[in-house]
Amino acid sequence: MLYAASRAGADLALRSNRGVQFRYPTLDLTDSSSIERLAKTIKDEDGKVDVLFNVAGLNIAKPQSGPRAFPDNKKIMDVNFQGTLQMCVTFLPLIKPGGRIVNLSSVASSLRSYSEGLQARFRDPKMTLSALQALVTEYEVRKVLIKPMRETDDH
Ligand SMILES: NC(=O)c1ccc[n+]([C@@H]2O[C@H](COP(=O)([O-])OP(=O)(O)OC[C@H]3O[C@@H](n4cnc5c(N)ncnc54)[C@H](OP(=O)(O)O)[C@@H]3O)[C@@H](O)[C@H]2O)c1
Repeated sequence: MLYAASRAGADLALRSNRGVQFRYPTLDLTDSSSIERLAKTIKDEDGKVDVLFNVAGLNIAKPQSGPRAFPDNKKIMDVNFQGTLQMCVTFLPLIKPGGRIVNLSSVASSLRSYSEGLQARFRDPKMTLSALQALVTEYEVRKVLIKPMRETDDH
C-alpha cells in the first residue's frame, strides 16, 4: 500500500504494474490532529510502515523582478520544520525494523549560507531538540532574509 497524502486528498491516478495499491488521504502538516489521524489510519490498516517520505515544503516566494519579499518565517517553519518533525516523531514507532524515514531537503538548506557562528550552533554535538526549537523561534521572530543573514545572525 502506498499512501500519497496531500491537504486536498487529491487522487493522483498513480498506477503500478506490481500490484501496489494507492490511497490518497488528507494531511495538513500544520494540524497535529491531521498527522495523528493519518498515523492511526495507517496503523489500523497496515500495522507498520516500510518507508516514510516527507516531501512537503514551502519555499520563500521569489518575485519575477524587484527585491525578494520578507518571508513569513513562522508559516514556512510550521511546515518545513515543525510539521516534518512531528511526522518523524509520530511515525517513528510505526517504522519496521530496517525501515527508513526520508526527509526531502534542498541545496538551499545548506549551512554554508550561514555564518560560522550559526553553523557551529547547528553542528554542536550537544544540540538538543529544545535548543533547536529555540534556534527556530529566533529565526521566526527576527524575519531576516537568507542572504543578509551572514551579517546579521551573530550578535
Ligand atoms: N522545486 C525545486 O526546485 C526543489 C529543489 C530542491 C528541493 N525541493 C524540495 O522538494 C519538495 C517539494 O517542493 P516543490 O518544489 O515540489 O514544491 P511545491 O510544488 O510547492 O510542493 C509543495 C508540496 O508541499 C505540500 N504542502 C505544503 N504545505 C503543506 C501542509 N501544510 N501540509 C501538507 N503538505 C503541504 C504541498 O501539498 P498540497 O498538495 O497539499 O498543496 C505540495 O505537495 C520540498 O521539500 C523542497 O524543499 C524542491
